Amino acid sequence: MNVNGKRYRTIWLKESDPSIVQIINQQVLPFKFEILDLKTVEDIRRAIKDMYIRGAGLIGAAAAYGMYLAALEADESNFDQQLQASAEVLKKTRPTASNLARAVDIMLAKLLRSNADLLQKRENARLEAQVIADSDADSCRNIGLHGLEAIKAISSKRNGEAVNILTHCNAGWLAFVDYGSALSPVYAAFDAGIKVHVWVDETRPRNQGASLTAWELCGHGVPHDLVPDNAGGHMMQHGLVDMVITGADRVTRKGDSANKIGTYLKALAAKENNVPFYIALPSSTFDFKMRDGIKEIPIEERDAAEVRFMSGKTANGLIETVQICPDTTPARNWGFDVTPNRYITGLITERGICPASEQGISSLYPEEINE
Ligand code: MRU
Repeated sequence: MNVNGKRYRTIWLKESDPSIVQIINQQVLPFKFEILDLKTVEDIRRAIKDMYIRGAGLIGAAAAYGMYLAALEADESNFDQQLQASAEVLKKTRPTASNLARAVDIMLAKLLRSNADLLQKRENARLEAQVIADSDADSCRNIGLHGLEAIKAISSKRNGEAVNILTHCNAGWLAFVDYGSALSPVYAAFDAGIKVHVWVDETRPRNQGASLTAWELCGHGVPHDLVPDNAGGHMMQHGLVDMVITGADRVTRKGDSANKIGTYLKALAAKENNVPFYIALPSSTFDFKMRDGIKEIPIEERDAAEVRFMSGKTANGLIETVQICPDTTPARNWGFDVTPNRYITGLITERGICPASEQGISSLYPEEINE
C-alpha cells in the first residue's frame, strides 16, 4: 500500500543488504512512520512478541523470514539442529494465529534433511520465505475481490447511500504483507467507486483500531469514524451498521473463528439485529485439524500492564503512558475470543465466500477437508 506516495509492504529484505529484514514499526503508529532493521532471529522473536509487528499474516511472514535469518546464523555441521532450535523459539512467541506455526513448519519441511551445501540451503530459505510473503499478499488481494461482491450486493439496496461497515481490531494491510483481510474488500469497493463508510472499533487494550485501522483508512481516504468498543450493539439497534467484517487469527474446519477479544460480542449483537457478519481470512489462517474452536484454539493471555496502562500523544506532542486504575488493582488480558460458526454469515477467502461450516469450507478447500 502507499505511504506518502511510496509503495510499501509491511516486511521485506533490505535492498542493499538482503541479510537484513525490514519492517514498519507498528508500535509508534499513528504518530510516527518508522522502518526498523531486524538482523537476527532474536530481533524477529522480540519484534513479534512485543508487537512491533502483529496480525496473523504478518507474524506468519515474519516467522518465515526469521527462519531465513536462522539459516544465515546456522553453521554447516549442525544446521538442522540449529534450525529446529530457532523454530521452537519463534513458535513460542504467540500461540493463537495459525499462520505463525504453519510458516515455520513450511520452512522446516523445505530446509531440513537437505543435501544442498550451506550456501544453497541459505538461498533456499530466502526463496521460501519470499514465497510465503508473496502468497500472503496474493491471497489478501483476492479476498478483496471476493469481498467486494458482498459489499456490492448491500450497496445495491442502499439507494446511493454509503454502506456502513463495522470492523474490530486491525485486519488491514498492516496485519498482513499487503492489502489486508477485513479491509481488503473495503479498499476494493472504495477504489471501484462504491460509497463505503467504516465504523472503527478502538479495540482496547492495545487500540489497534484507533492507532492502526484509522491510520490506514486516513491514508487511503476512506470515510470512517472511530467508536468505543462497546458502541456496536447500540449502533446495530439503530440501523447504523449494514455489515460487519473482521479478520481472524485461527479458523477451525467447521468455521469457529478466533479473532481479537470482543469480536464474539459483536457477532452476538449482529445476530440479534440481523446484520450480516463476515470473517475474512487467507487459507493460511485455517486450522484444518481443529474442529471445536472454543475447546481447542489456544488463547493468548498477555501482560496485565496492557490493561492497566494506556499510552497516547499529549498536547505538546510527546508520547506518554498513564495508569488508568488504582495502584493495587490487578487485571486480566485475554488477547482473543472465539466466535462459534453459527453467528457467521460467511467466510471471505482467497477462493471465494463460503458458509462457516465444514461443508461450506470443503466446497472451497476439498483437498484439506476430505483428505
Ligand atoms: O494481537 P494482534 O494485534 O496481533 O491481533 C491479531 C489481529 O490483528 C486481529 O485479531 C485481526 O483482527 C486478525 S489478524 C489479521
